[in-house]
Amino acid sequence: MARLPYSGGMIAFHRVGLEYPRTGTKALYNVNLEVKKGEFVYVVGHSGAGKSTLLSLILRRLLPTQGAVYFAGQNLKSLRGDQVALHRRRIGMVFQDHRLLSDLTVEENLAFVLEVQGVPRKEWPERIATALRRVGLAHKKRAFPEELSVGEAQRVAIARALLLDPPVILADEPTGNLDLENALQVLDILKAAHSRGATVVVATHSRELLEAYPARVVVLKAGQVVRDERPGEGGSIRVRESPDRGGKEGT
Ligand SMILES: Nc1ncnc2c1ncn2[C@@H]1O[C@H](COP(=O)(O)OP(=O)(O)O)[C@@H](O)[C@H]1O
Ligand SMILES: [Mg+2]
Repeated sequence: MARLPYSGGMIAFHRVGLEYPRTGTKALYNVNLEVKKGEFVYVVGHSGAGKSTLLSLILRRLLPTQGAVYFAGQNLKSLRGDQVALHRRRIGMVFQDHRLLSDLTVEENLAFVLEVQGVPRKEWPERIATALRRVGLAHKKRAFPEELSVGEAQRVAIARALLLDPPVILADEPTGNLDLENALQVLDILKAAHSRGATVVVATHSRELLEAYPARVVVLKAGQVVRDERPGEGGSIRVRESPDRGGKEGT
């Protein structure tokens, strides 16, 4: 198995470049990034900066055209066949749009995931109830997506992403369609998953989110990491130049 370039990382990018082959667009250049287990990280940057591309590499929807992406110490390039699906099962993914199935109720949308993942049927009611309770929507289990507000639908999408308690949660502009109140509810849910131990990466434009829940911020600009900052002790911001520090950051 390939060696992890940095110790202890849940996710590590090692000199990653990504060029989309069909168009020749270079979306990422020489990205070095390490996300430790249990970290909460925002990825920010203008539209086109490469945020979604970065998340797609973690999901292994894409393979880097340069360098390597590691997940729990494993080079994602080395995954074969079934291992790709198993890898994606370790990740809860949330998009800007909820992507619920419109002809299924809320609980059926969740049951669908459990069925696809082969979870025994007798576990479904409790898993679904827990997931909906976590997003405050137990009372909406028989609603269809079109009977929900945009914020509620997005919370169901998060419940679906959290259903199997994945160790890693990736959210791609999860509050992009929401007003501040709903955005903060979404953030509270992601925060709760983080405090249960999940590693969370959130791509966002929203300054309000960053202020409501300060955490490490990785700034992408035209495909490069131009800043990587953590809130320091006493609220000051410390800029980190290289991702090679060994110690665990207080959270
Ligand atoms: N499937 C694709 N094929 C070709 N180019 C793409 C594709 N997806 C994104 N890009 C390009 O890659 C760059 C980064 O895009 P993206 O990762 O979506 O940025 P962001 O999520 O920060 O807006 C942009 O120039 C975009 O046009
Ligand atoms: Mg994007």
